[in-house]
Amino acid sequence: MQDIDQLVEAMTLEEKATLCTGSAFWVTAAIERLDISAIVLSDGPHGVRRSTDVNEMMAEHFPATCFPTASALAATWNTALLHEIGQTLGEEAIALNVDVLLGPGVNMKRSPRCGRNFEYFAEDPFIAGEMGAALAEGVQSKGVGTSLKHFAANNQETRRFTINAIVDERTLHEIYLPAFETVVKRAKPWTVMCAYNRLNGPYCSEHHELLVDILKQAWGFEGVVVSDWGAVHDRVAALRGGLDLEMPGPKARRVQSVIEAVQRNELDEAVLDESVRRILRIVKQATATPKGGTFDVAKHHALARRAAGEAIVLLKNDGVLPLQQPSKIAVIGRSAKQPQYQGGGSSHITATRVDIPFDELQKQAGDATLSYSEGYPAGAEFDQKLIDEAVAAAQAVDVALLYVALPGNIESEGYDRNDIALTEQQIALIKAVCTAQPQTVVILNSGSVMAMSAWIDGAGAVLQAWFMGQAGGGAIADVLFGAVNPSGKLTETFPLRLADTPSHINFPGNPREVHYGEGIFIGYRYYETKDIPVLFPFGHGLSYTTFDYSNLQTSATLFDDVDGLTISVDVTNTGTVAGQEIVQCYVRDVESGLMRPDKELKGFAKVALDPGETKTVTMKLDFRAFAYYHPLYKQWITEDGEFEILVGASSADIRLQTTVSLRSTVMLPSLLNRESTGGDWLSDPRGQAVVAPLLEQMLGAFNGEEHENGGLNMDTRQMFLQVSLLGMLEFQEGALPASPDEIVDGLLAQVHENQTNT
Ligand code: BGC
Repeated sequence: MQDIDQLVEAMTLEEKATLCTGSAFWVTAAIERLDISAIVLSDGPHGVRRSTDVNEMMAEHFPATCFPTASALAATWNTALLHEIGQTLGEEAIALNVDVLLGPGVNMKRSPRCGRNFEYFAEDPFIAGEMGAALAEGVQSKGVGTSLKHFAANNQETRRFTINAIVDERTLHEIYLPAFETVVKRAKPWTVMCAYNRLNGPYCSEHHELLVDILKQAWGFEGVVVSDWGAVHDRVAALRGGLDLEMPGPKARRVQSVIEAVQRNELDEAVLDESVRRILRIVKQATATPKGGTFDVAKHHALARRAAGEAIVLLKNDGVLPLQQPSKIAVIGRSAKQPQYQGGGSSHITATRVDIPFDELQKQAGDATLSYSEGYPAGAEFDQKLIDEAVAAAQAVDVALLYVALPGNIESEGYDRNDIALTEQQIALIKAVCTAQPQTVVILNSGSVMAMSAWIDGAGAVLQAWFMGQAGGGAIADVLFGAVNPSGKLTETFPLRLADTPSHINFPGNPREVHYGEGIFIGYRYYETKDIPVLFPFGHGLSYTTFDYSNLQTSATLFDDVDGLTISVDVTNTGTVAGQEIVQCYVRDVESGLMRPDKELKGFAKVALDPGETKTVTMKLDFRAFAYYHPLYKQWITEDGEFEILVGASSADIRLQTTVSLRSTVMLPSLLNRESTGGDWLSDPRGQAVVAPLLEQMLGAFNGEEHENGGLNMDTRQMFLQVSLLGMLEFQEGALPASPDEIVDGLLAQVHENQTNT
């Protein structure tokens, strides 16, 4: 392929327009005259879903490794592992002739009802960004592109093609954009996929502020913005809005509309050229990686098993686990034989092989005998006979292993869940089996949060085994028998009830729009700030060993936001088996100009420790660890003052903490204006300097005894601090040397002059 600028120069208008819309379902357009090849894009995100016919939506797919889905991968908190999985996905993409893998997805889990939560990492942008960047870097290190999706505020499936997400500016910047920003800046994905939905009005596919101002300009994204499949409504408006490549194709109508818009001077050809240049760049990158060959199925399966083992979260353990050589085990639940290992929709992988949980147990059970009872039917119907059989089986053994998964089509792309409950039969089954056999382990395969309050007290242990990928059956056996010490931790809060969730009364909105009414308070930010009890907090996960935290150190007690802060903490394995601990660092702003969450995750480290071993982990906290987005300044700011550094095993289990002082280097313009209250003037240092004497004099006049006698019976000073300075002056008009407007404008001029001088 020639130099990109020369190619753009050589291309006709028709060829340029053609390149900007796909030529088939999974393929871009080739321009043979100029030796521009087509490239193949395929889903993603937790396996390579390469269609056997790239022209067809509904074709079969070549077998590929089905890794645990994103919610499971995130629970590993292991960026090195995600990088390795990314590399492996890259290798499979090469073998299967795929140039760009459509993933990872870093949308926030705003509600546990979102059908696609299994494809997303977390309710927290920091961990989601770290995980997404590691995976994308891994894939791209092999010369295969990624597509970071779905940009942005695609947090529900209900009416996903049209819903208008109404998100205030601060919430957008603090919660819904940062994971994208981290991946864009760090991993430089070849493509970013725009979401289907509208965001505060415009469709994301035409959203200039989102795609151009933020993504391409502020974050420096140099790749291609690709549409989600079918997200384009107006091809010309989308080009103007920053969308480079429309998928899927062919769409002769759209190509023609672009040609005509340029001919009629409605679309600047330079805009089209810019998109063409971006597409040519990734075509060039893609053709530089030769495709074809095979991949090592067994090795990749082993990696999928290791990942599933690290992802499993031991939610509860009364001492049943690890199993102590039981001689008789009752295996209950149809998902022990028909595993539910991935969710529905475009991420669905045709696995190379699937480990059956029951068979994997058998392999590790030694001389123990295993019985099997189905426990619950495939659908949501109720069958007491199956419960009775399971109870009888549980009574006859030392321990019962109860595998539970929702009916296969409940967690899927395309629609949301109605609730977070197991089926009526499953709840009744768990209760009955746990009553009959206290040594019962419940193993849940779900892609997202499940309610458990109805039955959890009776269970001896509970494993959250997620949508565990094709090798999950073996990984569960590894954890049950203790070959793997569980180390996964939740990246989403498990609430007591759906009604407790922060978005509950605003999800999924009305037919036109959904208001993100909870603002920045999603997930643990909400529960911790409001002190609402939960079933399992963000960051929770148990181990077969115990860890002690000590010696929290900070690089300084007074620091500025440019230097940031390095913290270190010693972690000791105080138990008898080797294990891994995920150390989490949260930051609390003691006092801030705008309300902030009680604490926010700003660092984490995963550390492997032998019994008795101690290691020091360090974490770096940068500007953003202390900053928040201020919608009036339209930027991230820090403020002078105290911050608490909280180090712990979960958001609710803080083991050590210390207080540090930040000196902000952010220079902010004064926000004072004609509407600013007396209080605003006094809390702005420059305002205070010019207004304090005048204000105190006026407030003094109002604070006299007569007013109490006059029956106001209130703190007039407090009241007037809430009134605009202008309004206060209006009360004294006759006594003033000039009009209230002139006085306030004069004071504002002084403030702005002082501002320029400092
Ligand atoms: C999904 C994307 C996916 C695309 C191609 C869309 O419906 O939202 O995540 O990559 O289809 O299958």
